[in-house]
Amino acid sequence: MSAVLDPQLSDLLCAMPKAELHIHIEGSLEPELIFAMAQRNGLSLPYPDVAALRAAYAFSNLQSFLDIYYAGASVLITEQDFFDMAWAYFLRAKADNVIHAELFFDPQTHTERGIAFETVINGLRRACDRARSELRIRAELILCFLRHLSEDDALATLEQARPHIGKFIGVGLDSSELGHPPDKFSRVFAEARHLDLRAVAHAGEEGPPAYIWSALDVLKVERIDHGVQCLQDPRLVERLVRDRIPLTVCPLSNLKLCVFDSLAQHNIRAMLDAGLVATINSDDPAYFGGYINQNFVETFAALTMNASHARQLAANSIEASFASPAEKHSDHQRLAEFFSARGLH
Ligand code: ADE
Ligand code: ZN
Repeated sequence: MSAVLDPQLSDLLCAMPKAELHIHIEGSLEPELIFAMAQRNGLSLPYPDVAALRAAYAFSNLQSFLDIYYAGASVLITEQDFFDMAWAYFLRAKADNVIHAELFFDPQTHTERGIAFETVINGLRRACDRARSELRIRAELILCFLRHLSEDDALATLEQARPHIGKFIGVGLDSSELGHPPDKFSRVFAEARHLDLRAVAHAGEEGPPAYIWSALDVLKVERIDHGVQCLQDPRLVERLVRDRIPLTVCPLSNLKLCVFDSLAQHNIRAMLDAGLVATINSDDPAYFGGYINQNFVETFAALTMNASHARQLAANSIEASFASPAEKHSDHQRLAEFFSARGLH
């Protein structure tokens, strides 16, 4: 039984301006688009229809999801496919009042299948540029390395990306966490730093607090993706609070991948209470039952959170973003105006 949220609070959550900082663009590929792309690219799928594919979205852990997620991404062939996928996301993000979005993409998922790196990045970048001009969403790309592959493979990917350096702002680390600690990627993150790229990493989704320490101290990341396991380690919490290291939390993802048994047991409210710079994001919305506003609404209902939590989370998302100081200043101002127009100061 899911809890029902006060309609006024629900409207506030949906209407408030926000940044989305943890969205895998391949995880926004809806079953309808998977089937449309398979058809136009002459590919056959191991599912008879959209309903059968959707019915397969029942996961027991991260790996059980990743197997289906990589299969879904195999329908992406042309630059137009990558554009269409990202554009569909931006239209949804606009409806959710996202004003700034940083999109993860997994080039190795595509280059492994013989798709050129430039096909991937040019399609995604074109959608980002159009989102900025037509939808007024500031949009950036973060290149993620797949941690189940080798560091040499990641280094080769960074080499392929080098001629496109102005098209993405940073690097990240995703895919199967357990057994693949961040320090496996120390050289490629050092190389990315030399290229003045920003750095983030998934850590503490299923993995232990030690992986968060390693992402901070070895990879020198500026944000932790997920990080929900940090509350097991008080010294780590102290460090994250002291250095204002943001955590991009994805409640519906954590629920669907069985990180928590129910949203009522999620620790995002405890994270905020501890003074952590936590944010709410969608991760892979086509697979986990909702985009960013759905994540806000369901989490607030389950944890009886209120308007001041809403404001804190929106402010955290702006602070945690890689927007410039001037852009952040204007986003914070916009947020303040939004709340004061509703009599909330
Ligand atoms: N790739 C897409 N979604 C992911 C997640 N939740 N964790 C790790 N890698 C991912
Ligand atoms: Zn993720």
